[in-house]
Amino acid sequence: MSKKDSVRISIVGSGYVGLVSGVCFAEIGHRVICVDNNREKIKKLKKGICPIYEPDLDRLLKKNIKEKRLSFSGSVRDVVEKSDAIFIAVNTPPRADGSCDLQYVEAVAREIALSMRSYKVIVEKSTVPAETGKKIKQTMKLYNKNNAPFDVVSNPEFLREGHAIGDFMKPDRIVFGVESEKAEKIMRKIYKPIKAPVIVTNIETSELIKHASNSFLATKISFINAVSNVAERVGADIKDISKAMGLDKRIGSHFLDAGVGFGGSCFPKDVLAFIHMAQNLGYDMNILKEVYRINREQRKIVVEKLKEIIWNIEGKKIAVWGLAFKPDTDDLRNAPSIDIIRELLDSKASVCVYDPVAMDNFRKIFPNRKNLKFARSPYDAAKGADAAVLLTEWSEFGRIDFKKVKKIMNVAAIIDGRNFYDKNKLIKAGFIYRGIGR
Ligand code: NAD
Ligand code: UGA
Repeated sequence: MSKKDSVRISIVGSGYVGLVSGVCFAEIGHRVICVDNNREKIKKLKKGICPIYEPDLDRLLKKNIKEKRLSFSGSVRDVVEKSDAIFIAVNTPPRADGSCDLQYVEAVAREIALSMRSYKVIVEKSTVPAETGKKIKQTMKLYNKNNAPFDVVSNPEFLREGHAIGDFMKPDRIVFGVESEKAEKIMRKIYKPIKAPVIVTNIETSELIKHASNSFLATKISFINAVSNVAERVGADIKDISKAMGLDKRIGSHFLDAGVGFGGSCFPKDVLAFIHMAQNLGYDMNILKEVYRINREQRKIVVEKLKEIIWNIEGKKIAVWGLAFKPDTDDLRNAPSIDIIRELLDSKASVCVYDPVAMDNFRKIFPNRKNLKFARSPYDAAKGADAAVLLTEWSEFGRIDFKKVKKIMNVAAIIDGRNFYDKNKLIKAGFIYRGIGR
């Protein structure tokens, strides 16, 4: 990219979204500074160490540092005047009542305003309720001591963990919520190398596009999980139902996999935030309350199925394969594994877990918990177990030698929480098999 096409970008918040966006913007030719107030994180990043597990992120991080398009800072104030566009990508966690906690967004907006001297585009990248852009603008005006001109833009992010680089570089669409032609021009310049349809709207529409998209995907998952509970009761197979439904182009095949439900840092939080936001606006999003409820109930199914097979949980050894909320990430935020393993431990089972990358993060959630062991392999976890439970469909679990597993387990029983295995093959191999909705 020529210097005239390259934009000076800062990204405040170097988590999954901020770091991936920063690395990808650098990769397409912009000069990027990633900022975070977590000193340890910035220290690691400055040394070229990637603080999260995300396929290919480590390589691109090192490459762009070496090619001098990517650098890091612990201070918002230091980067403001070195940037034309400043992205806010901090966390927006749920409060106890389910509403979105915007204190980090507000703090960053305030800090930017305090040191701003020339025109900037302030980009809201974090997922936020509608009308947050207005609030950012209001705060920026309040602390803009130098009266510097600025525009606020909403540019929601649709990447998925585990596929983050691919999703960022080849998105289905790019959305800008803008209020001025000048800001739109800068946003188009930033995203020019990325080929995707661009939707330009006002800020509130753009904010709602993000919430509506996540809530719709969550609704699809809860819908198929609800159907799976009926399927199971009549002897139908949810995998065939999903396949046949998904072939209808109006329905689409994605996000129709029944299982232990959705986890992660976004769907549960964003569904709750949408419910809360609508309530504040005088509208009851009852449909999403049900989506959330079905998802909570779905996690309980694993222990119920275990009880059906081994009757009493107390004193039994349960192997758990997979801890992360989905494959190809070490993220455990809101992972179904946490609730399920807590229930097993509270029922006095002894639990032996294995995950290819999320073990260290899991140890931090359950430090020194009695009856919880960490295995070196799926086989190590299964040794002497009265049942094995699959909670994350890592590809490694697709290569398991079930002949070997059958020999080392106490009882050859598998609860397949993601409908990952060929049911008939496992039954033929002598396993007691329970999937979800089949
Ligand atoms: P994260 O928790 O991984 O990262 C947020 C980062 O912001 C942290 O490193 C934190 O230290 C930093 N931070 C907080 N306050 C700060 C401040 N005042 N100054 C500097 N840094 C600060 O969060 P995430 O998963 O990257 O999510 C960020 C936002 O993007 C959320 O609103 C989320 O809903 C949204 N989002 C996430 C994903 C995803 O896949 N994780 C996808 C799309 C959108
Ligand atoms: C999700 C969205 O897919 C992204 O578009 C969005 O940007 C992101 O949230 C966000 O806003 O943070 P992510 O949470 O990374 O991405 O992961 P998904 O692949 O969507 O999976 C979420 C959860 O749903 C996982 O626990 C997964 O196991 C579960 N899931 C997914 C199902 O149970 N069934 C399915 O058919 C699909």
